[in-house]
Parts: sequence; C-alpha cells; structure tokens
Amino acid sequence: MPQPNAVKCLVVDDEPRLRRVLVRLLEGEGFTCSEAGSGTEALEMLRHEQVPLVISDLRMPQMDGVTLLREIIARWPTTAVIVVTAVAEVESAVACLQLGALDYVDKPFHLDEVRARVMQALDKRSLKMEVEDYRHNLERRVQEQAHRIEELSLERLQALVHFLEEKDPYTSGHSVRVADYSARIGRQMGLSQVVRDTIALGAELHDIGKIGVSEAVLHKAGKLTDAEYRHIMEHPVIGARILAPLMRDVPPALAIVRSHHERLDGKGFPDGLKGDQIPLEVRVVGVADSFDAMTSVRPYRPALSVQKALQELEEGKGTQFHPPAVDAFLAAFPDPSALPVTTPEVRPLHLPPPQDAHGRSSPLD
Ligand SMILES: [Fe+2]
Repeated sequence: MPQPNAVKCLVVDDEPRLRRVLVRLLEGEGFTCSEAGSGTEALEMLRHEQVPLVISDLRMPQMDGVTLLREIIARWPTTAVIVVTAVAEVESAVACLQLGALDYVDKPFHLDEVRARVMQALDKRSLKMEVEDYRHNLERRVQEQAHRIEELSLERLQALVHFLEEKDPYTSGHSVRVADYSARIGRQMGLSQVVRDTIALGAELHDIGKIGVSEAVLHKAGKLTDAEYRHIMEHPVIGARILAPLMRDVPPALAIVRSHHERLDGKGFPDGLKGDQIPLEVRVVGVADSFDAMTSVRPYRPALSVQKALQELEEGKGTQFHPPAVDAFLAAFPDPSALPVTTPEVRPLHLPPPQDAHGRSSPLD
C-alpha cells in the first residue's frame, strides 16, 4: 500500500523477476516504487516525474546502465543512482561511481545489503543537497554584499559630485535635476523601472569627471580657447575611468557618463558616436542635460529662457537630440511655466541588479 509521503524510487531492469524482488524489498521499507524495463523507458518516466532514487541494472539491451546513469546525472543531478552489477562487473561499477553513481550492489544481492546501501545513498544525497544549498546561499549572499559595497561606493561619489556642484553657484543642483528630467522623460517613454534606475544612476554621476578639470578653466568667465575647450571635454572620459570598476554590472550607466556629450549626427564627444551607436539611456540623458545646462546661468553667459531652450531642443531633433526623447520631454511638461524644475532632494542611489542591467529584461514596462 503506497504511503502518501513515501520516498519515490524507480527500479530499472530488463528482467521483470529481478525488478519485482527489488520493488517488494523497497516497498517493504516504505518506498513508493515505479518500474522501467529499459533505460529509454526510465528516461521517459523521469521526464514526466523526477524521483530521488533510481536503482538500475548495468546490462540492459537498447540503453545500458552507464548511458542511463550519464543521462540522469546530466539532467537530474539531485537524483541518487545505485547501479546493480554482476560480480564480474566490478570495473564497470567503479566507473559508475566515478561518473556520479552514489553506490552499487552486487548480483545476486542480499536484501539486507541492498537496504543498507539504499539508506546510505539517500543520506549521501541529502548531504550533497544540503552542501549545494549552502554553497548557493553563500554565493548569493556574497553577491548581495558585493552589490551593496558597490552601491555604497557610488553613494560616496554621488555625495562628492553634489559637494563639488554646491561649491559652484553655476552648477549647483545640476546632476540631481538632470536625473529628475531624465526620469520623467523615461517614464513618458514607457521605459521600465530598471532602465529608469540605470538612467538615474548615470545621470546623477554623469559629470563626475569634472573633478579632473582645472577649476580655472571650469569657472572661466570669458570665451574658452580651443585647448581649454578640449580640456573640459575630457571630463566624460575621466568620469568613465573613475566609475568603470564600480559600474561593471551596469554598462548603460557607464555609457551615460562617457557619452553624454555625443550627438546623433556624430559631431559629439568623445567618440563621435552616431545614431543608434548611442545607447537609448544616453540619448535620454542628453536631452535632460542640455535643457538644464541651457536654463542655468554659466560664467560665460546668462541662462536661456525656457521658451528659447525648448526651441533649441526642437531644432536639435535628429541632429543633436533623439526626437522621441525630446517629444517625451515636451509631453512630460505640457505647461512650460513648470520649467525649470526646482532642484529635488538628493536621494541615495540605487544600483540596479546585474541581470536586469545587462538588458535581459525588456526596456519597456
Ligand atoms: Fe557633461
């Protein structure tokens, strides 16, 4: 009589009589048994229902026990396999142990021995699964910790960016506003939360490379010389170099830092990327960054009016700016009197999980 919580076992042998002996023995021990007359039949049964224990003869027509063992180990590694061998097949039995069988029993078998070996194999299986579980949990926790450490490091850099911006009345609040505009564009475009988080991360840190630019050049009131302009325009490359070790798992955020001064027509910095070569996340931030720069006072010019800045976005569609991002910006702010936005509060950065950041999830909600 099968018991509801009994351990399931599959007995594989081409000789029905031997199968019955084993089945009777195992059922006597409380197992629920199914039987297969060949390796092929066994695989078919396992495909429909996995069992924790398989006892299989080695010599069978069609598919021998070794081939069956290989298949089971490859497809269902948590299944414990015990092979049944003739005394003359000791070498094959050892080979099976090397392949991953948990034990073997000799034919003709002694029932007590089979019973003991089955129990031992199940114990080994439980132990193996516990170790595997432990290893899995440990790996996950290490990954989580590494992720958190990277996030904390990025938060420190975020604090540094805001500190540097606050020191300078011309750039105060720039990054956090760019992140805010970018988030609103992203939402309007229907981008997923993970992509929007990635955009926010890149946007908040996009100008970090200005740390490496001379303050005299950054704050120069007059027109920049060519050399000074080239020096300022090194900041995307410097920023990407600083952040590369911390943004390995979020390439689009790193791309925002390196490529936020690229243009659709290929006339931007630092790589002259064109059109689709510029990732979507970068194109979104490009619009936000330009609008905030235009509507902020600069040492060398007053702030542009909102109307003029919006006109510049319109006119730059297709040459400098990604048209859908400009359209999304305009749709997100149907009332220009709400522009420019007041600078939002700085919030801790969120580092998106690696699998999402690699684009395995859809960019759209
Ligand atoms: Fe910049």
